[in-house]
Amino acid sequence: MKTIIEPFRIKMTEPLKIISRQERVEALEKAFYNVFLLDAEDCCIDLLTDSGTGAMSTQQWAAMMLGDESYAGSLSWKRFERTIKNVTGLKHVLPTHQGRAAESILASTRLKPGNVVPNNSHFDTTRANIEFVGARALDLLCDVGLDNTSHEPFKGNMDVDKLERCISQNPGNIPFCMLTVTNNTGGGQPVSMENIRSVKKVLEAHGIPLVVDACRFAENSYFIQQREQGYRHKTLLEIAQEMFSYADGATMSLKKDGLVNIGGFLACNDDLWAEEFKNLLILKEGFPTYGGLAGRDLEAAAVGIMEALDSGYQEYRHATVLYIAKAFDRNGIPYVKPAGGHAVFIDAKAFLPHIPALQYPGVGLVNALYIEGGIRGVELGSVMFGRFDEAGKEIPASLELVRLAFPRRVYTQSHFDYILEVVDEVWKKRKSIAGCRIIYQPKYLRHFSCRFAPL
Ligand code: F0G
Repeated sequence: MKTIIEPFRIKMTEPLKIISRQERVEALEKAFYNVFLLDAEDCCIDLLTDSGTGAMSTQQWAAMMLGDESYAGSLSWKRFERTIKNVTGLKHVLPTHQGRAAESILASTRLKPGNVVPNNSHFDTTRANIEFVGARALDLLCDVGLDNTSHEPFKGNMDVDKLERCISQNPGNIPFCMLTVTNNTGGGQPVSMENIRSVKKVLEAHGIPLVVDACRFAENSYFIQQREQGYRHKTLLEIAQEMFSYADGATMSLKKDGLVNIGGFLACNDDLWAEEFKNLLILKEGFPTYGGLAGRDLEAAAVGIMEALDSGYQEYRHATVLYIAKAFDRNGIPYVKPAGGHAVFIDAKAFLPHIPALQYPGVGLVNALYIEGGIRGVELGSVMFGRFDEAGKEIPASLELVRLAFPRRVYTQSHFDYILEVVDEVWKKRKSIAGCRIIYQPKYLRHFSCRFAPL
């Protein structure tokens, strides 16, 4: 059959409310034009993030009933640890309440002020955790990764030449290097096995450990299976295992490819690292056999992470993304090509060329989508990734994207048809959309809570 159906049926429903356009206008004004500050119930289709927003399976809910809530050495911990070790092959596993807790422990134990941490592209929390301890987070994405129109299959790759230059310019100053799979910040684009291998080879020659940000490792594995020569007949688990075999450590938010609503882990091979991680874990998160999680959360994640490696599930998930991408192609909507793993990223610069970067075209577009149809997307542009130079001048981000992230196993095809209709309406009205200015911003991660005024 040509039709790829959702590989599940629905047993429990959650009502969706569509408030009126006038109510949306008022809600957005009350939220200072920042969709992070909206009430979720006022968002009809919530594509803010694919993080922690997925639907769990019957197997996961059943596993939760087996949750062993013992403080130390619980059965749930054993199952969780066994599963993560099986997938990653890493020696030490530490549960955390989510990805950024793992990043914080990694950064505060391994980094000193002035250190440098390369990555293909750092996610905002990773960058913030690195900068918080006074180190520098460098993005060494391959050039084609910044070209929104290129159809290259692995636009999440790190530029290995840039990495070599970075190492020679910062001798002895790089405690570890990271690779984010898939590259969320750069359009959810995958990293090839060949690139992971080359990065590892360069790092190994300089004794620099590789830490994988594994949030979407299963989607990355699927892309490798589909796009890279020699992997078509491998299972997603085998591919994931090979990817992790090049890593000395990993951070993961299980809220993505763990298919759970909360959870994360930090893993490594080095005994000394593990010792230092553990000390901080106990201080910040909890005893090492539960971290920041309940036993039932560990159970759900142990099942979820394996479900994410199911090829039928990944095939369906990718079909959803392609469905949107093909419709965008037909209607001329500019987006990052090829479509990413967990989202489509609309190119706000091309969608709204009349809005300068520092009037935040991404925010203009996000707000227009909300007013038009109650869809909540997120800006990944100069608000999220812009920075200030030493003189305090605001430097825009290289890309102005609006991400429509797809929660896992949540929305059906008619929801996606509705999304397409709303995007089309906004496209027709694009010339009337204005940018905005920031009237309040906090010191770190400003996009979550800053306030805007429309221009
Ligand atoms: N790394 C990547 C690549 C991410 O996408 C995220 C979260 C994190 C780390 C942090 O994990 O949220 O569990 O602390 N990304 C979410 C998003 C928030 O919407 O893309 P966390």
